[in-house]
Amino acid sequence: MGVKLGILGLGTVGTGTVQLLQDKTGRHPLLQEIEIYRVGVRSLDKPRAVELSTDVVTTDLEAIVNDPTVDIIVEVMGGLEPARSLILKALSNGKHVVTANKAVIARFGAEIFTTANQASVYVMLEAAVGGGIPVIQPLKQSLSVNRIQAVTGIVNGTTNYILTRMQTEGSNFSDVLADAQHLGYAEADPTADVDGLDAADKIAILASLGFGGRINLKDVYTEGIRQVSKTDIAYAEKLGFVIKLLAIAKRITSSEEDGGTQGYGDAGKFYLSPLSVRVHPTLVPKAHPLASINGVYNAILVEGEPIGQVMFFGPGAGAGATASAVTSDILNLAASLKSQKVSTENQSKIGSLNPLLACGHHEYSQIVPMTELITRFYARFLTNDQPGVIGKLGTCFGNYGVSLESIVQTGFQGELAEIVVVTHDVREGNFRQALAEIESLESVESIPSLLRVL
Ligand code: NAP
Ligand code: HSE
Repeated sequence: MGVKLGILGLGTVGTGTVQLLQDKTGRHPLLQEIEIYRVGVRSLDKPRAVELSTDVVTTDLEAIVNDPTVDIIVEVMGGLEPARSLILKALSNGKHVVTANKAVIARFGAEIFTTANQASVYVMLEAAVGGGIPVIQPLKQSLSVNRIQAVTGIVNGTTNYILTRMQTEGSNFSDVLADAQHLGYAEADPTADVDGLDAADKIAILASLGFGGRINLKDVYTEGIRQVSKTDIAYAEKLGFVIKLLAIAKRITSSEEDGGTQGYGDAGKFYLSPLSVRVHPTLVPKAHPLASINGVYNAILVEGEPIGQVMFFGPGAGAGATASAVTSDILNLAASLKSQKVSTENQSKIGSLNPLLACGHHEYSQIVPMTELITRFYARFLTNDQPGVIGKLGTCFGNYGVSLESIVQTGFQGELAEIVVVTHDVREGNFRQALAEIESLESVESIPSLLRVL
């Protein structure tokens, strides 16, 4: 056997990967050269869906990453620690790493990729974003000659499933969440998904690849879907929109930038213009390509010059789909190891990294604060039902240069009138100033919803 794997984790993704590697007929012939050498787990007593000999499965994960026989570490255990330390140790020991762990990459990517580059090894992460959807390699290779303008994704299956059911059934968030947990779509602790944290990890990774600079996760504005109500979904529908949790990374053009700095990276290679990187529920026009992505599916729309729009669509999670992405990374590394062996036998590996597979980012991208964002807004107001209220709202908006695309009063909540507003493009800071003034009006009871519009 040519290439020996040390797999850390035998849960959903680990099991799917082992199953794929144990069933090689009809797949790429290079898979024949890949051996499942060690598999690390927490418990040896758990029943497993795959057969592995007892000398392969171990609870000593340190021993796997320190074993000189192992060529590639496949980290599919999840969590931050010990995953981070094991990845770093494996890299320092000169092993390539394949990981599905977006949480670790989004937080510790700088440390991990620096260590990998120093050791002249690769970190591959196709499964970390979009599950089975090939989007990492396309951004690194096939699309890399484009000037990327925006990467916009539905990258969390759990929230897309919940929003889709709220839309089709007219149900409440909490009812659908409970049902999704019962059916096994949403985890017992759904925080990372429903609060947008999982999507934030993923867009930080995509933004880094698309725009050529590191992303500080704490600069990524993150808002989940807990506050999305069936009332807003119904209003959005009437106005020609669906509500989706979007993860957006967008290059800010100089007209939007409002004084931000621009420049070149150290290597003189990448144009690091400021970015907007954010996750929030968004009203998406029904005709937009992302509007029809429903259920647990994911999709990522990449816009660049000269290519225009390219959309990647598919299963964003699940054993088989994610195993497809993990194993494609393993195959890439196996191919690389094979050609390296032929061409550089007995030579130092230093400096031999393929720049299309390795990470070449050293600078951090500048992320523009949300107050500077130019976007459309949807807002819902509960007001007293009396003459002149709409006029007062209009005056407050006008005071801050907020131009309205539509304003409708269609319903009542008890005694209170419900007024829904959609703006034209506006600077978020101006919009929020107008809202603060509106909140202070006596005739305005509350502003239950505020959502951005694509
Ligand atoms: P999982 O089902 O919870 O499996 C985790 C595996 O890692 C288990 O086999 C567990 O061992 C092992 N493990 C965890 N901590 C360990 C420790 N401290 N020491 C030893 N073994 C440990 O997780 P998963 O769903 O496969 O997810 C794995 C990774 O893939 C995560 O980073 C996740 O974000 C990512 N991912 C998952 C999906 C998906 O569809 N599930 C999709 C894309 C990406 P035991 O079995 O003995 O408990
Ligand atoms: N929890 C994630 C989702 C799994 O719902 O999309 C894949 O990363």
